Amino acid sequence: MDRFAAYTRHVNPALGRFLELSGRALRLVRATGAHLIDDEGRTWDDWIAGFGTLNLGHARPELVETARAHLLGGAPALYPEQLNPFAGELAARLLEASGPGFADGTVFFGHGGADAVEAAIKTALLAAELPGAGDGPRTIAFADGGFHGVSLGALSAMAPGLYRDDFDRAGVLAPFRRVPWADLEALEATLARGDVAAFLVEPIQVEAGVRIAPPGYLTAAAELCHAHGALLIVDEVQTGMGRTGRLFAWQESEGSVPDIVCAAKALGGGVVPIGAAIMRAGIWERAFGSPLRAEIHAITMGGNALAAAVGARALELTRAPALLAGVRERGRSLLAALGAATADCPSVTRVEGRGLLGGITVADPDHPSLSWEALGLPELTGYPTGGPLLVERLARRRILAHVCAHDWAVVRIEPPLVVEPDACERFVDGVLEAARWLDEHRRSPVA
Ligand SMILES: Cc1ncc(COP(=O)(O)O)c(C=O)c1O
Repeated sequence: MDRFAAYTRHVNPALGRFLELSGRALRLVRATGAHLIDDEGRTWDDWIAGFGTLNLGHARPELVETARAHLLGGAPALYPEQLNPFAGELAARLLEASGPGFADGTVFFGHGGADAVEAAIKTALLAAELPGAGDGPRTIAFADGGFHGVSLGALSAMAPGLYRDDFDRAGVLAPFRRVPWADLEALEATLARGDVAAFLVEPIQVEAGVRIAPPGYLTAAAELCHAHGALLIVDEVQTGMGRTGRLFAWQESEGSVPDIVCAAKALGGGVVPIGAAIMRAGIWERAFGSPLRAEIHAITMGGNALAAAVGARALELTRAPALLAGVRERGRSLLAALGAATADCPSVTRVEGRGLLGGITVADPDHPSLSWEALGLPELTGYPTGGPLLVERLARRRILAHVCAHDWAVVRIEPPLVVEPDACERFVDGVLEAARWLDEHRRSPVA
């Protein structure tokens, strides 16, 4: 059987066809460190890193060894209606790593980011001590522009657009309240209605085009939430696990302590699926702290022994001070090099980031041969072309990159954290070559 063709046929036909059309239907057979290898033995630089999952690199030997040793060790895979020591250990380590504000807290485990966000939302709805709301209806506020996953609860906090709109029209989303990004006055006005159990926000909105919260924003948001009895939920699914040079990006801002932190993706080291909602003391207890309620929010394989064991090792590797300092340092020099290289390129209008998470904003060329229609994809008309064209130029150099989900004008900077200096140089050279090519196509020729 041709298993790659089977993917297009039986898993995602539209994606498979799109990749074929754009000449990017790779047949990847191996992966190591910050690289992928195709069936012709060619090496590709990975600048997507599983959207922030492969922070420790592909097939990180310590994690592979942990998984192998765990599976050969003979421990139960699951602990139904029993005490799960692997989940217990990972929870304790996550809470300790989250700082003193999380002492005696609890962690809920699922399989991914959406699971972590669902758990945070549901727990907050029951746990928030809202002075005026009593048993009446409660809701969640969320920062506009966000991406929190595609389950119906998480989707209810999604920015308007492709991912959300059809389900909005179907009337199945929860009536959560959208608050403009980084607007504290609007947040206060929303909280003042007295029925908001929690405010859900990312420290950096990656999919909105890598929008970084202004200094002090999270701290002020936490204070406002607490003044109104609401909880602050920080979604670190993509920004967490060392990506920005801190274990969690919220730890950058002095004084802000969220109530619930959602982690997933790189918590599994790219080896196992896992999601976690890390909560301060008392929150889970208020929502689910009785024998009757103890399992009304539960996921069968959540916290399974293999995922928890690998997660604990991934956390340990990520917390190493040398790794985090290296991410900050490499991120600084990469962003500086990209900014300097493209300073004179009108096609690149912004390079910004923190640690090894950033965005390159690309202006659309206005050449007639580079419209979506001319490129054979008329249904994409209205979406930016600049970002996807830069991605396509990078692919010609065997650099795999991608645009942000809500803003295709922005190409993400998101390599595995173990990316080597020469791969960074190749990326900067590739972006510069692509930007110059786009610059040449900025003016339509006069007819
Ligand atoms: C910030 C954020 N939250 C949640 C999610 C959803 O994670 P998952 O795809 O594991 O459900 C994502 C996915 O990209 C994300 O970026």
